[in-house]
Amino acid sequence: MKTKIFENLSELNKDFTLWLKELLSEKETLSIALSGGSTPKSLFNYWAKNHADDIDWKKIKFFWGDERCVWPSDEESNYKMTKDYLFDHIEVPAENIFRIRGENDPYKEARSYEELLRNELEETNELGVPQFDIVMLGMGDDGHTASIFPHEMNMWDSSNLCVVATHPESRQRRVSLSGQTINAAKHVVFLVTGAAKAKKVKAIIENNEEAKSKYPAAKVAPSSGNLTWYLDSYAGKLLKEKK
Ligand code: 6PG
Repeated sequence: MKTKIFENLSELNKDFTLWLKELLSEKETLSIALSGGSTPKSLFNYWAKNHADDIDWKKIKFFWGDERCVWPSDEESNYKMTKDYLFDHIEVPAENIFRIRGENDPYKEARSYEELLRNELEETNELGVPQFDIVMLGMGDDGHTASIFPHEMNMWDSSNLCVVATHPESRQRRVSLSGQTINAAKHVVFLVTGAAKAKKVKAIIENNEEAKSKYPAAKVAPSSGNLTWYLDSYAGKLLKEKK
């Protein structure tokens, strides 16, 4: 596991982009599962403003780690956020975009997204789980990741590739990747910013065994070993060793 702490969001965005470009230069196509939340929003906006022309977007296949069960035109939709901040500003063919259909019955959608992952992702791990090149994750203030929340820890261990989760307060349904799908990825990256996350970041990184029973984000441990936490100085402020 690697931890990278940046002065600010703009430094974080720059470094993450350099890494993405490097990985992209080695590959014909690259599959990425995107996350919702505020940090990706800033990254998408940065890409749209600064990298519309120097990243070969056609090589990237876009998926999602989770989606809220709403219409794609709804302000709550993770797809809509990505469309507004990124897709509307870059050249990416529609056939490269594989959204989770939040407007469908969530249970049916979870099954059909699984099928889609099996068809679209070229490689699988030794357990036959489709492998994303990159899974991008955020972490909620309560320690949730993708849409696996602390009150539904069991969803992490589902034998399905995708699960139907429920937001603890709004009761909104979400379709999310399960733990096995996230941990099968070749690279998993957390993008986490803001002081509100600092305590959980410390607990998860420095006291992982204990945190694993409480926070879904602590269960992220890709079998590839390639896990990187991208933090801003606020989210990383309580870590003992600042890297
Ligand atoms: C979602 C996300 C979720 C998000 C965290 C962090 O759809 O809600 O995928 O897991 O990444 O809640 O969000 P913030 O960056 O806004 O705190």
